[in-house]
Amino acid sequence: MKITIDTDAKTLTVLNGNHESETLPLYSDHAFELISQQWLKVGWNQKYPYAFSWFGRPIIQIPEDIVRTQEVIYRVKPDVVIETGIAHGGSLIFYASLFKAMEKGRVVGVDIEIRPHNRKAIEAHELFSYLTLIEGSSTAPEIVSQVKSLVKPGETVMVILDSNHTKQHVANELEAYCDLITPGSYIVATDGSQKDMHDVPRGKPDWTWDHPMAAAEEFAARHPEFVIEQPAWPFNESQLTENITHWPSAWLRRTAA
Ligand SMILES: C[S@@+](CC[C@H](N)C(=O)[O-])C[C@H]1O[C@@H](n2cnc3c(N)ncnc32)[C@H](O)[C@@H]1O
Repeated sequence: MKITIDTDAKTLTVLNGNHESETLPLYSDHAFELISQQWLKVGWNQKYPYAFSWFGRPIIQIPEDIVRTQEVIYRVKPDVVIETGIAHGGSLIFYASLFKAMEKGRVVGVDIEIRPHNRKAIEAHELFSYLTLIEGSSTAPEIVSQVKSLVKPGETVMVILDSNHTKQHVANELEAYCDLITPGSYIVATDGSQKDMHDVPRGKPDWTWDHPMAAAEEFAARHPEFVIEQPAWPFNESQLTENITHWPSAWLRRTAA
């Protein structure tokens, strides 16, 4: 695909593989979405998601995904957020900061390896009392049992999967944790944008098929009690409708028990 932006004529022209071209007004919602898709790819290659922190801890997300997650957590008000993939702990601290402000909620984080310097910094953080850290693979039966033992009957639970992003691992995580999700809440298969990163310099050719979005779509087909649905924006005075996100088709909402 070739995209040409003419800032003088205020147009964006797309030439696809079949040599069909379409010229759009540059200042249009569709042009913004096309530019944003490229921005996500270039930004991912340049490690833009690795440039933020939350309350002092690195968080490996882009701002829109952080803000959208806040919108959902404030609406759903879960008692527990479980996240697989801790890394530096910034995302756990982010949920904890929301829970402190909301005066409810706690966070369980799972990582196959919590590096000593990260553990030390997370344990020293002023929001650490909201967190439980578990070290081990998110799909190991003993780890899944340990996580589940921390949830009390009747609690509202949301699960965010941000560990190993192979299709198989995410599929296994979805099956392992889906029964924790309460109706109206979500299990989130993050980083489905991996499918679009197969041809960027830091990408891998296998990502055309090996990505979290494929796991989420197959899971939804097997589980009619879940639907893939971008959470509604609580505020929108634009005509835009689509998240600019590394989490496409990620939000699986439980519709029924
Ligand atoms: C993308 S990072 C997590 C980023 C973090 N959620 C954030 O937003 O800042 C992925 C993490 O998943 C962990 N991981 C990889 N395989 C895993 C597995 N099988 N089980 C649990 N964690 C795993 C890695 O050690 C790494 O820390």
